[in-house]
Amino acid sequence: VAAVAGDGRHQPGIAERAPAHLIFTAYDLISTEPTAVRSALAALLRTWTSASAVLMRGEPTAGAERDTAGLGPAALTVTVGLGASALRRAGLDTRIPGPLADIPALPGDRIDAARGGGDLAVQVCAEDPMVAYSAARQLRRIAAAYVQPRWVQRGFQRTAAGAADPDATPRNLMGQVDGTDNPRPGTAQFDLAVWAADGPAWMRGGTYVVCRRIRMLLDSWDRLTEAAQSEVIGRRKSDGAPLSAPPADQGGGETTAPDFAARTADGRPAIAVNAHIRLAHPQFHGGVAMFRRGYSYDDGLDATGEPDAGLFFQAYQADPRTAFVPVQRALAASDALSTFIRHTSNALFAIPPAPPPGGFLAQQLLD
Ligand code: HEM
Repeated sequence: VAAVAGDGRHQPGIAERAPAHLIFTAYDLISTEPTAVRSALAALLRTWTSASAVLMRGEPTAGAERDTAGLGPAALTVTVGLGASALRRAGLDTRIPGPLADIPALPGDRIDAARGGGDLAVQVCAEDPMVAYSAARQLRRIAAAYVQPRWVQRGFQRTAAGAADPDATPRNLMGQVDGTDNPRPGTAQFDLAVWAADGPAWMRGGTYVVCRRIRMLLDSWDRLTEAAQSEVIGRRKSDGAPLSAPPADQGGGETTAPDFAARTADGRPAIAVNAHIRLAHPQFHGGVAMFRRGYSYDDGLDATGEPDAGLFFQAYQADPRTAFVPVQRALAASDALSTFIRHTSNALFAIPPAPPPGGFLAQQLLD
């Protein structure tokens, strides 16, 4: 699989189609004194910027030549983010952009602090698990003088090779077609929803990613009938069509727009009042959208033998205060899906734009 070039304006790993493997590592800075933190941040971001370019070309960083012999670029992308805590520790509190304000505690949260937060984040995505692992490890090794890992989340998607139709919307671990009503990269809606157009210069053309490890209670979910599972989302499990759409043989399908006013023959809302897509739809949130690019995760079994698996939810947006936060508040209050999921982690990172030629990520913040 070919190398990803990036567009020179935005960091890679956001608008590109998500490859099969994810390794997301959050780090904490080792230094404590603000001046030392600032110089550690500059040195680290300079190092990660140049190493990312090398790795994405399919080349090894110094000392890793043998580890990566025989591996290609495999569509590797490296995406680097900063948490508000990094700016606080660097004495840059007054320069924390508004959209990087901490996500408030939300109803229903069962957050494990050790699995969330972090001063810095490195997202590695690739079509090949060895390429992803090797890149994540090299980026960790060259950062060891400045940061220590705080948490790691691995995730997966179906592979392009395994998909009957690689362009079809993928399914999540609940079996739902997931990603239908996402802003499409390259459209004005996507640009508006995702890229920061104003705010501090070092973030213009960047974005903010909310990460939530959302466990799925798969054994309970499996006990629902397919019709009941479709009601929970508001879309047919079979083909992802909204429940307001005509049957498939009359032209209704995944791309049919949902009609939230539609009623069934017996007078009930075709898309239930507590259906996930009704509560999350931009129509009920002042038109505000976010770009969901999450990965499935499988961390084995818990102590009781139930699967510890679900969705590592990642949503990219220009401002979580007007996107993720109000949408999640609405979902937490009434979403039918809430019975079958648990939010177990929370993190928010600023993803600066692509570095200027010859420069490094977030350079304008640290100059
Ligand atoms: C839509 C699943 C969590 C926001 C959907 C759809 C599915 C789905 C199947 C319909 C297809 C699509 O348009 O992509 C899930 C699952 C979740 C989850 C399984 C948890 C494990 C969340 C969270 C948020 C969210 C935490 C944000 C706070 C949305 C939005 C849509 C959506 C904005 C599109 C609504 C529309 O425009 O019709 N989700 N979701 N979801 N979800 Fe989720």
